Amino acid sequence: MVTAGGTREAVDPVRFLTNRSSGKQGLALAQAALDAGADVTLITTSDLPAPVGVRRIDVESAQQMLDAVLASVSDAQLLFMAAAVADFRPAQVADQKIKKRSGIPTLALAANPDILATVAQQRQNFPALRVVVGFAAETQNLLDNAAAKLQSKGLSMIVANDVSAADAGFAVETNRVTLLYSSGQRETLPLLSKTAVAEQVVLRAMRLLSR
Ligand code: CTP
Repeated sequence: MVTAGGTREAVDPVRFLTNRSSGKQGLALAQAALDAGADVTLITTSDLPAPVGVRRIDVESAQQMLDAVLASVSDAQLLFMAAAVADFRPAQVADQKIKKRSGIPTLALAANPDILATVAQQRQNFPALRVVVGFAAETQNLLDNAAAKLQSKGLSMIVANDVSAADAGFAVETNRVTLLYSSGQRETLPLLSKTAVAEQVVLRAMRLLSR
């Protein structure tokens, strides 16, 4: 199972809050997993075309992504959580378009569920799930923040990337990542295309699976 893209959190029928994630790294992971022979379920918010052969589930919000993950993760051995899930959503979604004449609105926010933390809490319900890979997009203290997420979200591996670098992260074709493992091992990959990063990450996740 692969998740991809930034979630969209509705404000009203025509507006949403989102983030800079394009979904490219997640789609590349889905392709790499397919190429490695896996049956792939892709849960995505991205408008980009999905690799031919994946089972694609389109979602918008973090809550919808959580529901989709929980509905089918029991069939998965590997979960790659590449989506950029919004941590907050508008506390209330207006039924009708918010009109300018009503004045400048104040948006109250509510916390979204943490999908990886929820999967970790319910892990006993998913006995087939052996390897969970998270992604950490950071602009500072990359490795410390990634190590904390590796532990708190019960991950086998986390792919840390500095999204403040011009050649890595959102919307560009390349990524520069460090892999942190639950064993404590760390591995920094060179600057690679997102396709190559995906191949390396899938390869390592499959090695973890075969242990
Ligand atoms: N994630 C998740 N559910 C959320 C937020 C994040 O499952 N509500 C997952 C992401 O898909 C990613 C990992 O957790 O694999 C780390 O996401 P990131 O946004 O870097 O971390 P957060 O936990 O949201 O922490 P912060 O935004 O404070 O850095």
